[in-house]
Amino acid sequence: MTVAVYHPLEETTRWWVDALTELLPGWQVAAMDEIADPARVDYAVVWRPRPGALARCPNLRAIVSIGAGIDHVLADPALPRGVPIIRTVGRDLTQRMREYVALHVLRHHRDMPRQLQAQRERDWHAVVVPVAPRRSVGVMGLGNLGAAAARTLAGLGFATRGWARTQKSLDGVEVFAGPDRLDAFLDGCEILVNLLPLTRDTSGILDARLFGRLAEGACVINCARGAHLVDADLFAALDSGRIKQATLDVFHEEPLPADSPFWDHPAITVTPHIASRIDAATGGKLIAANLREFERTGSCPDLADAARGY
Ligand SMILES: NC(=O)c1ccc[n+]([C@@H]2O[C@H](COP(=O)([O-])OP(=O)(O)OC[C@H]3O[C@@H](n4cnc5c(N)ncnc54)[C@H](OP(=O)(O)O)[C@@H]3O)[C@@H](O)[C@H]2O)c1
Repeated sequence: MTVAVYHPLEETTRWWVDALTELLPGWQVAAMDEIADPARVDYAVVWRPRPGALARCPNLRAIVSIGAGIDHVLADPALPRGVPIIRTVGRDLTQRMREYVALHVLRHHRDMPRQLQAQRERDWHAVVVPVAPRRSVGVMGLGNLGAAAARTLAGLGFATRGWARTQKSLDGVEVFAGPDRLDAFLDGCEILVNLLPLTRDTSGILDARLFGRLAEGACVINCARGAHLVDADLFAALDSGRIKQATLDVFHEEPLPADSPFWDHPAITVTPHIASRIDAATGGKLIAANLREFERTGSCPDLADAARGY
C-alpha cells in the first residue's frame, strides 16, 4: 500500500511520514510531492491539501483528514467524488477539547480578565459572580467534541444547553435541534461555545444577528473554525459592549498574521489553534489504526459524510 502525506508545513509532512512509516510496517509512506507516479497512491493523509492534488491520484481508496473537521478537504473544488474521507478523532482529542472549554468557560464565568486587571492595579477588588447553576452556557454542535464539552460543563454545574442539527438526549443538557430552534437556544445565553463543523449552513454563523440574541455582555468562545466568525461583527459587538469578551482559537488565516487586530484587542484572548491539537505520537497511532481497519474491511468508524459536510 502507498500512503501520500501532505501538510502545508514541510517539516510537519516529514514528521507524519516518519511516524506512519514506523507505525505501518510494509506500507510505503512518502511526502505527496515526492511520489513520481500519482497512480501508485492508495491513501492520502492530508491537512489543507493543495487544490487539484488529490484529483491527480486516480486510484485513491480513501483520504484521511489530519483532524476532526473535513472542511479543508472539501474546500478543494477538484476533489475526486465518492472517495471516502476518514476523520481523525478519538478520546485524546475529546479530552483536550473538554479541558480547553472548561478552562475558558470558567475563566469567563469567574471574570478572570477583570480580576487580573485588578491585580495589575494592586486593587483588592473582589469580583463576585453567580454560581454556575445560575450561569447559562450554550454549546453549538453536539458531536464528538461538543457533546463531551457540554457534559463537562453540566458536570461543573452550569445551566447547560446545546444545539445540533438533530434531536438527542444528553444528561444535564437542554438540547435544541435545527435552525428553527436556534433563537430559543441563543436567547439569554451568557457564555457561548462554538463546536460546529464548517459547512455551507454554518459558515459565518457567529455574526451580528447571533450576537444580538445572546445575553447582554455575553462571552463567546470559538474553537471550531475561523470562517464561522464574521470578524467585523465581533469587533463591533465588543466595541458596543454587546459582547464582553471572546476567546478565539481559530482564524480565517492561520497562522494569524502579525498585524491582525485580534492580537491586541483587550477583550480578546488568542490561542494558536491548540484547543484540541493532538500530540504527534497519538495522532499517528489513530491514523495508522484507521488505515489498517479501512484496508482490512473497506470501512472504519471515523468515516465522514462528505454530502453532509462533516
Ligand atoms: N480548535 C481545535 O483544536 C479543533 C480540533 C478538532 C476539531 N475542531 C473543530 O470542531 C468541529 C467539531 O468536531 P466534532 O468532531 O465534534 O464534529 P462532529 O462529531 O461531526 O459533530 C458535529 C456536530 O455539529 C452539529 N451540526 C452540524 N451541522 C449543523 C447545523 N447546520 N446546525 C446545527 N448543528 C449542526 C451536528 O449535529 P448532529 O449531531 O445532529 O449531526 C453534530 O452534533 C470540527 O469540525 C472542527 O472544525 C477544532
